[in-house]
Parts: sequence; structure tokens; C-alpha cells
Amino acid sequence: HLMDQLFGMDRLERRLADYFGISRCIITPGDSDRQEKVIEEFGHLLWDALNKQLPIGENIIAVMGGTTMANVAENLSILETHNRHNMFVPARGGIGEYVNVQANSVSAVMAMRTRGNYRSLFVPEQLSSATYDSLLQEPSILEVLNLISEANCVIHSIGRAIHMAARRKMTEKELLMLKQKNAVAESFGYFFNESGEIVYRIPRIGLQLKDILNIPYIFAVAGGKSKAKAIHAYMKNAPKQTWLITDEAAANEILKGL
Ligand code: F6P
Repeated sequence: HLMDQLFGMDRLERRLADYFGISRCIITPGDSDRQEKVIEEFGHLLWDALNKQLPIGENIIAVMGGTTMANVAENLSILETHNRHNMFVPARGGIGEYVNVQANSVSAVMAMRTRGNYRSLFVPEQLSSATYDSLLQEPSILEVLNLISEANCVIHSIGRAIHMAARRKMTEKELLMLKQKNAVAESFGYFFNESGEIVYRIPRIGLQLKDILNIPYIFAVAGGKSKAKAIHAYMKNAPKQTWLITDEAAANEILKGL
């Protein structure tokens, strides 16, 4: 019976990976919408994937924020070895999240859990463009931006478009625009329609989606039946090297309609 379950999951993982045309899908039983332990399991699965995939030498790992990422960070453990060193950086500056789930916090927690290093990027929200431009000349900020541009690994989540827009306190006008453009998914501060096309982008420094295409190790962590549509939309055009870590509830919901 257990073997059946394992082979069943294996098949589901292959089907989903083939459908999205990505290298790997890892699916854990359950529904992260309803079970906290499923999100904890994402952390264990991510750790395992990182531990197997990250090459020896110096790795720069750019991470996004959000509640999934914050929770996953808490469930990582040591990734540092005598010949493998990891530096965690936030992938993009200030896209409007609460402090404890900001990319800066996630990267600090990940570094602490894995015994790696981290750098923060302090760029306040809502700056005039003049202040913004001069901030970008600051050596301490440039240093982190350079690290980000050299990242060889990215870890991110995927959210529902309108939910994320509201959480970020985007304006009514922007919300309306996103609805008109049929935005259903959000990741990295980019919004996507059901076909996985970018319909809007929050302009922020740090990694841009086109940079991510060239990054060898990409891990997307998102689950829950409620996120199925968002995961589906984003993953359609996701970089092919992406590994998706998700749960059974999201996977079944995505494959149901096919
Ligand atoms: O705001 C950062 C972010 O990673 C978004 O790109 C993503 O849509 C969202 O968080 C996911 O948040 P949560 O894990 O809370 O659903």
C-alpha cells in the first residue's frame, strides 16, 4: 500500500514536470492551505534539494519574501560544508511586505539555519526617483546589488495576483488594471495572466525576470489548492531549469482540468 502511494506520487511528479516542461517537480502529500505541517515539509524538501544540487565553491542564493518563504526558511538546516559556502541575499528590493516576511528577513533566517552568510538590501519604499537614483550610487547598496547580479541560485514562491496586490497595498486603480488584464499569478513582483504572460511589473531594483533565465538553480515553492491557478499560470512560462516544490492538493487541482 505504501509502495503504491509512493509510485503514485512519483507518477504525479513526472506528469506535472512534463506538463510544465521543467526539470523536476517534488510533491508532498496534503494541502498547505489547511495543514501547517505541509509547509514545514516544503522546508525539508527544499533543504534536501539544495543539499544535493548546490555545487561546491561559493554560492550566491537570492531569495524572495512571503509567508511560504519565511516558514520554509525556519525549516532548513546546515548546508555549509568545508568546501561549499553559501551567501544569501534578497532577490529584489522592497516590494511591500511586512518585516518578518520580507526577503531581507528570509535571507537572514536561511543563512542562520544553514550556517551561511547573508547581506541585506535596505531600500525604503516610495522614494522619489531622484533619491532612488542617488541611493543606487551608495557603495553599500552597490555591493549587495553586485552580489545579487551574480546569484547562481534563486528561491521564490508564487502568489495569487489580486491577493498579493492587496497585501502590498497597491492602489484601487492598479487593482482594477490587474483585473482588467486578467492577472492571476504573481512572483518576483511580476504579475502574470492565465497564459503565463507578464501583464505588469513592480519596478524595483535587484533581479529581473530576464536575469533569472540564466540562473542554473531555481526553486519555486508554492502549494495549496487555493494557489493552483496561480502556480499553473506562472509555471507555464517558468524557466525550464526550475524545480517546483508543491503539494498534492495543488498538483491534483492543476492536472484535473487537463
Ligand atoms: O512578496 C514576495 C512573494 O514571494 C511574492 O512574489 C509571492 O507572490 C508571495 O510572496 C507569496 O506569498 P505567500 O507565501 O505568503 O503566499
